[in-house]
Amino acid sequence: MKTLSIYCESFGCQMNAYDSEGIMSLLEKRGHSVVGSPEAADCIVVNTCSVRERAELRALGRLRDLSRHHGATIVVCGCMAQRLGTTLFDLVPAVRIVAGTNAYGLLPDAIMEAVESGGRFTLLTPGDASYPAPGASGREGRVSCYVAIVKGCENYCSYCIVPYLRGNVQSRDADSIVEEITNLVERGAREVTLLGQNVIAYLHGSTGFTGLARRVLEETGIRRLRFLTSHPRDVGADVFELMASNSRFSSHIHLPVQAGNNRILAAMNRGLTRERYLETVREARSIVPEIAITTDIIVGFPSETDADFRETLDIVREARFEAAFTFQYSPRSGTAASLLTDDVPPEVKRERLRLLNAAVQEQRGAILRAQLGADAEILLDGAVQKGEYRFLKGRTPQFRNVLVPCGHLQEGDIVHVVLKRLVNFTFEGEVAAER
Ligand code: SAH
Ligand code: SF4
Ligand code: F3S
Repeated sequence: MKTLSIYCESFGCQMNAYDSEGIMSLLEKRGHSVVGSPEAADCIVVNTCSVRERAELRALGRLRDLSRHHGATIVVCGCMAQRLGTTLFDLVPAVRIVAGTNAYGLLPDAIMEAVESGGRFTLLTPGDASYPAPGASGREGRVSCYVAIVKGCENYCSYCIVPYLRGNVQSRDADSIVEEITNLVERGAREVTLLGQNVIAYLHGSTGFTGLARRVLEETGIRRLRFLTSHPRDVGADVFELMASNSRFSSHIHLPVQAGNNRILAAMNRGLTRERYLETVREARSIVPEIAITTDIIVGFPSETDADFRETLDIVREARFEAAFTFQYSPRSGTAASLLTDDVPPEVKRERLRLLNAAVQEQRGAILRAQLGADAEILLDGAVQKGEYRFLKGRTPQFRNVLVPCGHLQEGDIVHVVLKRLVNFTFEGEVAAER
């Protein structure tokens, strides 16, 4: 059988990154090889995102570039493929395959057929809704890997397109998750991030999220366990208690707040108030004093006033967010909010975003500076070159960045450092001891 060289680009969230790895792994199992540049590829897979209009425009621009410069068979998968379907063939005529978010198991056969026949294929039926085989992720024996535990979302936040593109919540069998992580550990993984649109919604049989996390900690040799993302409405003390009781469980939670004003939160259908959110933050800090809390925020949701926005700025300080992904509201057709008038002018959205980012950065600097001189245990997960010096890059349990001189250390090592200096929100550490 003919074997192909495949190149993949992934846009969007960690779930897409995980799916891309899974797709590449399926193709490698068929004897195809994955290459690092589009020039060398017979087939180009682009995994796309639809969460904001700009994400789609970027993916479309990239697809047009790729189709102009290369004769490869082009495959579009992910959320934009799911949303736009066959219209993608009109938008970018070089596209040969459009594959929705549940059809990845069918891709290897479809790719062979498309390459051989030059025809077009659409894989948008539910198709193979199963997860990639255990061990599909972490193809290259990475130190830090993603593992999806729950797919889909049924929260229907009014601005969000994800539930329409990723389907209903489906939790994966805990045994297969433990098996996948065991395989990853055997291949060198030291850190795993459990993924889901809302991991706290995980429920398989009688095993909920903390039950699963406990099993992973007890039954696998993974040194660090993280999770992304958690809906603040669903997070309870059990998560923080597990965090406090096990040093292998990250001291970081990404807890999207989206807005600080109760009227806007209700219009967003977030299912909680500012006060409830802050209560969860207080609970987190009382159980896990060293916890780092990061968030997502949208500015310029329909009808948001300056006064509403000031409450968002206030909650950044009250909740002491260490970092935030911040976005200008982008109407997505088919969502409940798209029926509201997008009445905050673009220049007002831009200015609110600027003020918000400044507030977040200022606070981030203050939180990090307060750590100078402290000890931290870091997991080395990459290397960086700075001028003539090579450093290893690591993360603290709070997910803070630390650089250390290479010495005789290597990726995957866990070392104790003293946080000596802070440059551009990255610490420089001095190694105290090795584990
Ligand atoms: N499942 C995750 C994140 C989903 S999308 C969660 O619930 O936290 C990531 C972020 O994109 C969201 O948290 C939100 O802040 C932002 N986002 C989603 N839809 C958006 C839209 N229509 N306009 C602007 N930002 C949006
Ligand atoms: Fe979108 Fe809300 Fe679901 Fe997150 S929880 S994916 S923001 S609908
Ligand atoms: Fe984007 Fe889909 Fe993820 S819309 S954020 S790639 S779930």
